[in-house]
Amino acid sequence: MSRSSSDAARSATAPGAPAPGAPGASLADAVRQVHRGYPTGVTIVTVAVDGVPYGLAVNAFSSISLEPPTVMACVAESSQTHPHLLRGDHFAVNVLAHDQAAVAAAFARSGGDKFAALRWRPGRRGSPLLDGAAAHLEVEVESRTPAHTHTIFVGRVVDADSTGAAPLVYLGGRLYDGDRLQPAGEAA
Ligand SMILES: Cc1cc2nc3c(=O)[nH]c(=O)nc-3n(C[C@H](O)[C@H](O)[C@H](O)COP(=O)(O)O)c2cc1C
Repeated sequence: MSRSSSDAARSATAPGAPAPGAPGASLADAVRQVHRGYPTGVTIVTVAVDGVPYGLAVNAFSSISLEPPTVMACVAESSQTHPHLLRGDHFAVNVLAHDQAAVAAAFARSGGDKFAALRWRPGRRGSPLLDGAAAHLEVEVESRTPAHTHTIFVGRVVDADSTGAAPLVYLGGRLYDGDRLQPAGEAA
């Protein structure tokens, strides 16, 4: 992570706007800054409908429980993938590997055939699994909860694999190579 958080903060501030946290900065700006400073992995959430694959880049992904194995992904209603996720009874979470920045960029674009230039295969329940991903989860949808501009998809993990490859990391609006992270101490 060569770029400092203050660099990221500066680049997020519109010309003439108060610095984040300064008097006059809106709560929305302050919240955006908090999210920009919170590192995540990058996943591609995919779904197949009538055999056609759809997907988008998602970092609003989280584990909910291990017993039973349950996860959630949060997807904007405005996304073109959203109606397909509403129709599907399964989806896949493809955790991108450190060398898949181009895949992240392709799935962050809206619409079009994002799979044409990629190698992928259907999982056991038919969800598209991307080659080269660090890990895959296949998820059976349990609930779809509207949340303002987004829908929270919660589901039971029915299949999982991981390669041990380092992840791609998203921080401050940029992608980083997770193979070059330095340990900062012992995990609890
Ligand atoms: C790193 C990254 C993370 C993203 N995370 C989310 C997310 O969690 N939920 C979401 O709805 N969109 C997220 N997006 C934005 C969508 O990927 C983007 O709007 C995409 O164009 C949607 O494609 P679609 O309209 O074809 O479905 C993210 C984009 C990037 C680059």
